Amino acid sequence: MKSKFSEILKKKNRSKIICLTAYSRNIAQIIDKHCDIVLVGDSLGSVLYNYKTTRNVTLDIMIEHSKSVRMGIKKSLMVVDMPHNTYRNSSEALRNAKAIILKTKCDAVKLEGGKKLYHTIKTLIKNKIPVMGHLGLLPQSAKSFKAKGRKTNERKNLLKDAKILENLGVFSIVIECVESSLAKEITKKLTIPTIGIGSSVNCDGQILVTDDLIGLNPIKVRFVKRFANIAKEINTAVIKYKGEVKNKKFPKKVNSY
Ligand code: KIV
Repeated sequence: MKSKFSEILKKKNRSKIICLTAYSRNIAQIIDKHCDIVLVGDSLGSVLYNYKTTRNVTLDIMIEHSKSVRMGIKKSLMVVDMPHNTYRNSSEALRNAKAIILKTKCDAVKLEGGKKLYHTIKTLIKNKIPVMGHLGLLPQSAKSFKAKGRKTNERKNLLKDAKILENLGVFSIVIECVESSLAKEITKKLTIPTIGIGSSVNCDGQILVTDDLIGLNPIKVRFVKRFANIAKEINTAVIKYKGEVKNKKFPKKVNSY
């Protein structure tokens, strides 16, 4: 297991780290071959459940989806998001992180925030729970979905937070919607990898929500690029199925008992 983390660390300044989200076994087993990290993101709250914010996602929902994802992963490092209100203090975080790891057999957990999570992350790492950081736009606490790091103060704080997380021992940090030159500076100043989303090509790796990338989630935001139109493929398949059922071409003898 240790080797998966060191493989990822070794990629810094060498080759890009590939990360994607998965919420189910079926997607996980397709992307696993190509990814370094598969994240069970709490973005599933908006992507699958149509929640207005990720704040409505519960520990149970994360655990059930993660159990499904686990079945599809053979080689990637599997990270599970700790949902909102499950790490309000160190003891709550430790109890819930242990439950996530025990029930889902994931390799690490991800928490949103910097300095304010100092004691929490310290406790998790002291208890041998690998942690991925998340800085910049933090969907669990964000009031607005604007890019971060344009103001001088914000830049200073983000850089400080990144250093704090590195010193605490997180194995990498997701940097969400952070202004490009700041993402570059953070990446340069850290010895651990940065994983960008909307934060430029200068990060050590990239992450996207798989449903966005394959065109299953009709979202239009700057940081998403649609690499396929799976919704269209499904539509075509369903039209064919419907036609064959109506015309009694399906099921054939070979499909029947
Ligand atoms: O919840 C999520 O999917 C995430 C990624 C987009 C980074 O946190």
